[in-house]
Amino acid sequence: MRYTSATALAALLSLSSTLAKPVSRSDYNQTDIWDFALLKPSPELQWTPCFGRFTCTILEVPLDYSDVDAGTTGIAFIKWTNKNASSNAQDILVNPGGPGGSGVSLVLTAVSLLQEMAGLNNIVGFDPRGVNNSGPDLSCFPGRKNTINLYDPDFGKAVDVNSSTSLADTWARAGSVGEWCSAVHGANSSAKYANTIATATDMLHYAELAAEEKGEKKEDAKLWYYGASYGTVLGSTFATLFPDRIGRMILDGVVDGEDYYQGKWAANLPDSDAAIESFFKYCYEGGEKACAFWDESPEAIEARFTAVIEDLSVNPITVTDPNFVQRPAIVTITDFKTALVSVPYSPSAYFPFLAQVLAGLENRNGSLLATFSGEGARIDECSTDDESNAQQIEPRYYIACNDANDRFNLSTIEAWTEHVDTLVDESKYLGEAWAAGTAINCRSLKVYSPESQIFTGVPSSNHTSTPILFIGNTLDPVTPLRAAKKMSGLFAGSRLLTQNSVGHCSVAATSSCTIGYMRKYFDDASLPDEGTICEAEQVPFKSDVTEAHLAIAGLRKRHHV
Ligand SMILES: *[C@@H]1O[C@H](CO)[C@@H](O)[C@H](O)[C@H]1NC(C)=O
Ligand SMILES: *[C@@H]1O[C@H](CO)[C@@H](O)[C@H](O)[C@H]1NC(C)=O
Ligand SMILES: *[C@@H]1O[C@H](CO)[C@@H](O)[C@H](O)[C@H]1NC(C)=O
Ligand SMILES: *[C@@H]1O[C@H](CO)[C@@H](O)[C@H](O)[C@H]1NC(C)=O
Ligand SMILES: *[C@@H]1O[C@H](CO)[C@@H](O)[C@H](O)[C@H]1NC(C)=O
Ligand SMILES: *[C@@H]1O[C@H](CO)[C@@H](O)[C@H](O)[C@H]1NC(C)=O
Ligand SMILES: *[C@@H]1O[C@H](CO)[C@@H](O)[C@H](O)[C@H]1NC(C)=O
Ligand SMILES: *[C@@H]1O[C@H](CO)[C@@H](O)[C@H](O)[C@H]1NC(C)=O
Repeated sequence: MRYTSATALAALLSLSSTLAKPVSRSDYNQTDIWDFALLKPSPELQWTPCFGRFTCTILEVPLDYSDVDAGTTGIAFIKWTNKNASSNAQDILVNPGGPGGSGVSLVLTAVSLLQEMAGLNNIVGFDPRGVNNSGPDLSCFPGRKNTINLYDPDFGKAVDVNSSTSLADTWARAGSVGEWCSAVHGANSSAKYANTIATATDMLHYAELAAEEKGEKKEDAKLWYYGASYGTVLGSTFATLFPDRIGRMILDGVVDGEDYYQGKWAANLPDSDAAIESFFKYCYEGGEKACAFWDESPEAIEARFTAVIEDLSVNPITVTDPNFVQRPAIVTITDFKTALVSVPYSPSAYFPFLAQVLAGLENRNGSLLATFSGEGARIDECSTDDESNAQQIEPRYYIACNDANDRFNLSTIEAWTEHVDTLVDESKYLGEAWAAGTAINCRSLKVYSPESQIFTGVPSSNHTSTPILFIGNTLDPVTPLRAAKKMSGLFAGSRLLTQNSVGHCSVAATSSCTIGYMRKYFDDASLPDEGTICEAEQVPFKSDVTEAHLAIAGLRKRHHV
């Protein structure tokens, strides 16, 4: 999984002129902490200045709130304090999705975007259990970070339903990873405490300590929260467990919680193909200058797109241009389909790039696709162990698999084949990649959360202390609007705001209308009228892409929700 889309895009789209200057240590107070490893876990919120304009803390929490003998772990928090706010400003906790996404990274890269929605409140990012700067350590290579580079390069890559061996290979490969990791994290490993119930309880714990800091009673403490994608599972789980502890909750890019807890990941793709197909229309409307794959009608673009896929399906392309690869490489239909998953997440960021990739492939030039998929990267780059940029793939699997608790059984190749067929029927473009990156990877991971941390049933509540604001895009490739409608229906009093755009979560396209409703909700808990639809200002091929949008797109690597 040498996936470098965010860096590749930033360089290849030449966005440097629209990018804000990244946070640089030399611009700021040198006495700040720039590394969570320098902080000691504490049972109180001990804030230390960090990363130039934030404060950080590592909160010591029990691994199991109902069995304190199980020991403790540290959860990393980073806070941006709104200097204009009054002393009773609230801390809004944020989660970028995954599972396995880093809230610390979200705040470091996208705080300006978050500020717009937060109004006169503070923003707090945190790394959920097992993620980035938080414990417990889930690495299947004990003590090592950047494990993304230690797996079989084909692990997690799309299957190919036209290949006679691909499904069996993927099934076996997932089994080898599960067996390896189960042996490393035997029955007594603290990896079992990395799950959504435990993280939801950590959020309540944080809210209680923050209330006490302000001299309020911890029993009255309420959570203020913005969760995107998987972050909506975390939020709806919190709302199910602690319905009377909700101050504000916005759930954006809504996951079907029933499907998630069944471990299927089978309710994500109903709108995927329509989201991909919107490329044909946006490319056409964007015009010849903006879209490198432009043609005289959307249908003509689609026909060329299909021809590229058909050609690549039978003829891999060699890539040897030293400006793009450091060793001889090939790109295949599998590389293309694997890369294609992330494209409709953020059409403004990725559609122009897809157009360039396609224009290359049409001329049997796979250089850009290789850069995007990481084929041909230098071998020493593949084995780097740079702790400062921890890219671990375990958190996503452990959290998702612990939550699924073996409910979805893919222990036979027949069950697996049937599952792939279901997903490919739903999406001919994304089904093969989605299948390889999700449920199958739990099939032989034998780590189980304690009883108190196993979620049963469907996230829902008839009496939340503040109504939840759900947000869904008309065409979201992995969290369809129908899931948002379903989840909104399961939380009494909640409201669904629809944003008329393509992409994953409302932040995929800037909409001052949506931002305005979020801000108003955080301000006084008021909801948009039923049936409200917001338009978006940002249109693919017609608008600039900001650093924050790229950062958010980059945080959601393939198969994350
Ligand atoms: C830098 O931060 C330290 C610790 O917060 C503070 O004592 C010091 O005054 C700051 N220096 C400047 C120049 O802001
Ligand atoms: C704080 O208020 C000042 C003056 O109204 C304004 O210029 C500034 O943008 C505000 N900052 C934030 C973070 O809201
Ligand atoms: C791959 O299989 C699908 C479904 O069986 C079929 O529609 C498609 O034409 C095949 N593609 C190739 C290149 O053989
Ligand atoms: C797990 O820990 C328990 C209690 O400490 C011990 O009895 C048991 O043998 C351990 N099991 C394994 C597989 O290490
Ligand atoms: C292949 O595409 C890349 C990226 O667009 C370009 O720089 C390169 O010159 C192309 N190679 C050939 C042989 O045209
Ligand atoms: C992990 O957190 C650090 C800050 O401690 C951040 O710089 C980095 O981008 C994060 N890594 C990931 C993979 O999110
Ligand atoms: C999964 O299915 C297999 C074969 O049907 C069965 O032997 C096994 O016990 C099942 N596993 C679980 C956890 O239900
Ligand atoms: C909410 O109320 C409905 C209708 O009375 C009921 O069927 C459902 O079980 C309730 N849900 C919860 C979580 O209590």
